[in-house]
Amino acid sequence: MKLGLIGYPIGHSLSPWIHRRLMAHADINGSYNLYEIHPDTFSDQLAELKQEGLTGFNVTVPYKEKIIPFLDGMDSEAAAIGAVNTVRNENGQWIGSNTDGTGFVQSLQIAYPDIFQSDCSVLLIGAGGAAKGIYFALANGGITEIDIANRSRDKAEGIVDIGPSHVRSRILSLTEAEEHINSYQLVVHTTVVGMNPHHENQIFAPTRLASNTVVSDIVYRPLETRFLQEAKQKGARIHYGHEMLLHQAIYSFYTWTGHKLDGRTLSQELEQYLKGETSC
Ligand code: ATR
Repeated sequence: MKLGLIGYPIGHSLSPWIHRRLMAHADINGSYNLYEIHPDTFSDQLAELKQEGLTGFNVTVPYKEKIIPFLDGMDSEAAAIGAVNTVRNENGQWIGSNTDGTGFVQSLQIAYPDIFQSDCSVLLIGAGGAAKGIYFALANGGITEIDIANRSRDKAEGIVDIGPSHVRSRILSLTEAEEHINSYQLVVHTTVVGMNPHHENQIFAPTRLASNTVVSDIVYRPLETRFLQEAKQKGARIHYGHEMLLHQAIYSFYTWTGHKLDGRTLSQELEQYLKGETSC
């Protein structure tokens, strides 16, 4: 089985490590290679890649949207989001999907199933590509109230405009979100704020957070962001970024192999890996 990742630059990607572990857990022989494609040669290199007959591949920055004209088909969620992070080869046809949001929801369902069993009100912070995928996946998971707080209002409006009609959403400024954070059962931070090397930053201090709120941050470097640390001190239940990272990979792997792997052991392995306690 030949798998891989396209993007630019991709030297620090964790995907090879994760997918090699997934292959080992599934007892599959195969390879997962990096295809670092320079934007100037994107079309030519994609044509070459098609000749390689990969079983499937992941797509990362800056090609999640640019890949779309080169596909032969797309799953409905990826089409709605307008971004693809996973391509599978179906008899020579490239079919795109997006596992980011589904991976987020699956990891959340494992950690905090109660979120999906009650009327849960969600605050989504950020309105980029990741937020869009999470918004759709939460909606598909039955959540009906998802407010979006973003620095710029227009991007948040863009998500609500194309979102499923059964979801009620208000758009908030970051200041309003900080003030009203105690009205939500789930808070999901999706911006890059707080990512290494700027781990001293946070989007805002979660001072008004109610205890027992589930707080998630999709940033996984550092493993525990300042936002999560402060939320934890307020009594929040924490959901880590590396769980989403792992579960989007597990779901991509499932689309390629049909193997649905249990993420529990792998989650601990990934956590250790990120802490630098194990080596490749
Ligand atoms: P991704 O695809 O990883 O989600 P993106 O599409 O570039 O990345 O989106 C980045 C998100 O982080 C956006 O919501 C962005 O806010 P704007 O829409 O106003 O640009 C948010 N973001 C990035 N840097 C930020 C900062 N310093 N403060 C607040 N929000 C920030």
